[in-house]
Amino acid sequence: MVGIAVHGGAGRWAQDRSEEAGEGVRAAAETGRRSLVEGEPALAAAIAAVATLEDNPVFNAGTGASLTLDGQAELDAGVMDGRGLTTGNVAALAGVRHPVAVARAVMEVSGHALLAGEGASRFARALGFAAYNPITQTVCERWRRLRAELESGARGPAALRELLRRHPELGGDTVGAVACDGSGNLAAATSTGGTMLKLPGRVGDSPLPGAGTYADRHCAVSATGHGELMIRFGTARAVADRVRSGQAPQQAVTEVLDTMAEQVGDEVGLIAVDPAGRLGIAHRTPAMPHATASGKGIAEARFSRD
Ligand code: GLY
Repeated sequence: MVGIAVHGGAGRWAQDRSEEAGEGVRAAAETGRRSLVEGEPALAAAIAAVATLEDNPVFNAGTGASLTLDGQAELDAGVMDGRGLTTGNVAALAGVRHPVAVARAVMEVSGHALLAGEGASRFARALGFAAYNPITQTVCERWRRLRAELESGARGPAALRELLRRHPELGGDTVGAVACDGSGNLAAATSTGGTMLKLPGRVGDSPLPGAGTYADRHCAVSATGHGELMIRFGTARAVADRVRSGQAPQQAVTEVLDTMAEQVGDEVGLIAVDPAGRLGIAHRTPAMPHATASGKGIAEARFSRD
């Protein structure tokens, strides 16, 4: 059965943003569901859902993405098609509206699996992706407040770590989707601005296949949360390996988070799907807006697991 799950980022969302976040993920899941019902492959549905979230400034991806320490939007995105283990990824990409679409182009026309920085931007322009400024006024104001707070205290990387500790709401969020189409093919897509005030050049887990995004014939996975943990653990691949060994997606995401908690930390959220359309959804952060939809009905959204 066709099925899709989307997430809007695991983290410490303020409760007063729950409604707009819930509506955003519901709309994205509905976009993906319609695409699947019309016969589109899983890859197209996952990308359509993520592009919807990239356009929504509520989420940290595309328009409204977090900014680096020097006030730039450096965007990461990854896609993976389970049919042939094909993947395309962009890292620290500037000046495009839909990084997930550029990631797809990397997969389909570049002959590479990952393009970063200036080379990724030049590739996007060469393919006709228009120049676009994803920085919103709201994010700019938040960045100015945080920079002022940072500059009023001690300097250096330790001060930045301390600032992020005081503002846990700045970590995490990312958007992603996993989809299963009518032929049982699977795909995953993930997109993010990364952590607020990240060092220029920092790349998170989202564009690293097996860390933040993964799909094979058995399972598709998109991760969200503290990217350095996913990179160290190989989170998305770990979920898929468990499903390949016979676990249901829900059991796999839960057990991977248990193991991450023991080994590296679990400020993380996960969504997964298998070829039967069975979903796995889990997070260990206070919230993770997410929505699910199948061929049968309209998408349903939740703000957290409670
Ligand atoms: N999970 C998104 C990031 O850490 O960049």
